[in-house]
Amino acid sequence: MNFNFRKQFASLTLLFAATAAISQSPQPVTLSADLHQVKGSVSPTLYGIMTEEINFSYDGGLYAELVRNRTFQDNNNNPQHWFIHEGAAPDATMQIDHTAGPSAALPLSLKLTVPTASTKDAPGIENEGFWGIPIRPKTKYTGSFYAKTDSAGPITISIVNNESAKVLASTQTAISGDWKKYDFTLTSGVAPVSANNRIRLAAGKTGTVWFSLISLFPPTYHDRVNGNRPDLMEKLAAMKPTFLRFPGGNYLEGDHINERYEWKKTIGSLVDRPTHPSPWRYHSSDGMGLLEFLYWCEDLKIQPVLAVYAGYSMRQEFVKPGPDLDPYLADALDEIEYVTGSTATKWGAQRAKDGHPAPFKLTYVEIGNEDWFDKSGSYEGRYAQYYKGIKAKYPELQLIATMPLKEMKPDVVDDHYYRTAKQFYDDVHHYDNIDRNGPKIFVGEWATREGTPTPNFGSALGDAAWMTGMEKNSDLVIMAGYAPLLVNVNPGGMQWETDLIGYDVLTSYGSPAYYAQVMFDGHVGDQIITAKLDGTAPRLFYSVTRSSTSGTVYLKLVNAASSPQSVTIDLQGAPTVSKAAKLISLSAKTPAATNSITAPNNIVPVESTIATASSHFTHTLPAYSIQIIELKTK
Ligand code: AHR
Repeated sequence: MNFNFRKQFASLTLLFAATAAISQSPQPVTLSADLHQVKGSVSPTLYGIMTEEINFSYDGGLYAELVRNRTFQDNNNNPQHWFIHEGAAPDATMQIDHTAGPSAALPLSLKLTVPTASTKDAPGIENEGFWGIPIRPKTKYTGSFYAKTDSAGPITISIVNNESAKVLASTQTAISGDWKKYDFTLTSGVAPVSANNRIRLAAGKTGTVWFSLISLFPPTYHDRVNGNRPDLMEKLAAMKPTFLRFPGGNYLEGDHINERYEWKKTIGSLVDRPTHPSPWRYHSSDGMGLLEFLYWCEDLKIQPVLAVYAGYSMRQEFVKPGPDLDPYLADALDEIEYVTGSTATKWGAQRAKDGHPAPFKLTYVEIGNEDWFDKSGSYEGRYAQYYKGIKAKYPELQLIATMPLKEMKPDVVDDHYYRTAKQFYDDVHHYDNIDRNGPKIFVGEWATREGTPTPNFGSALGDAAWMTGMEKNSDLVIMAGYAPLLVNVNPGGMQWETDLIGYDVLTSYGSPAYYAQVMFDGHVGDQIITAKLDGTAPRLFYSVTRSSTSGTVYLKLVNAASSPQSVTIDLQGAPTVSKAAKLISLSAKTPAATNSITAPNNIVPVESTIATASSHFTHTLPAYSIQIIELKTK
């Protein structure tokens, strides 16, 4: 992300900091670092993103589909989010039909019965979208639907404003006979941006029409068909992540074994994806299927961290290690083959058929999710069985365990932390003394949970403090992913409080914690420099890293205290340090301060220059601030 637009805030922030500094006269502490003392390498995959279908992250979120319950599978009897538009024919009705859908995967359809024809205000069905259908001026929308009918005739597809009933875009398609797919485009006029709209499919003739898979997409990121929302993808790209952990989280496990994430049901044509209930209390369209997750990685140029279902679902349902588990292991092996196999393999060939002949690079596979919840204690056996089976075919893969194991040493262990800011401050040295001969650590889910729906600045402080601890130990902590990533802020959109990025159907915003991620992720380098802090400064946290190629030293300083704090920087081992240093600062007046959908830019990073940097200089951090100083050294 370009920070230039934020420079306008710089002078104000610095003025505030300077005023506060004069009034508080903080006692300086000294942060000493010696560039010759390299503690270890910063993991090149330290910062990434974790994702699952929660809080309408995909449906009603990143996945750009605008039609909600597009296949009518969300409820057996009730066409949720659909309404009848009687128009000039008040006897028109609609109902879920169980007799035959357009495919074996989609047995339900919506039956529209039109006893009286009217071409003027034709009766039809309407969808409310995910809290509205957004429309922007002069924009092309790409849509399709499946239909069969007992009376051939035209279907008019329109976007209609809820308040004015004005038609904002419209087109017509002729339908006839048995199930077929019909494609259409809608182009909006000059009407202003709005979300309070619905999509209508109206039938111009007497008779019955069965509908299924009614889809409408706005322009997507990189113009992908069945793709993602550009604004959200741009926000994710600005985080400069190195990996994407998917598909969960609890979403991988499901409440019950038969509600797990079954990857084979999420690939291929949308009409062949049965959709499924998710543990987060809404139905998943599975438009974001396995290949779409991989495209997401490709678009951000990052690697997948693939979590495979490993025989445990959240209502204490588990599959006994041994022969019972073999089919699940086989499924995971097929999944890995789908991701990485050449087109000469069965599942590599399927991937090619689905549109992507080239295999994807895969290094990490996670076996299950949070298996410490499995009270049966079966995880030792399940992990061991997966480990043996996967390593036999893919010895190069690193296999992540979801909890520490007693009977074997996994390659990597996934630790999760959902905490208050204070808990993170108090535990910032968590990884300092962990045995380096044990498994590597993946902090696969973590967040300070203060603020709703998105974290406030106090959370950003807790996060930043915790990140300094992970960075200092990133020889051990090889990956970390904040969670959850996304939340639809509409009423009913959130199932888990405190999510990094918020949105409605039109716009999105980053929380203060999001900006802390953007700052940290983009400024790491490859060397961990040993550093120490002398003096007393409660709630001051730091990390020092360096790029061995450019010589840039990244000082990260977090002042979580309510008063400013001066820090004397003492940098040894650099023959020269440029006088001009870049300063990136995120600060707020109170920990409760935050961003929101209506005030997205309250707290954003501000870039400025320190003109008097050297190997020994004093810098004052404002109260409640997260700062990065980039020192150019040779
Ligand atoms: O991130 C929300 C949930 O927290 C995840 O689904 C689960 O893994 C954890 O308990």
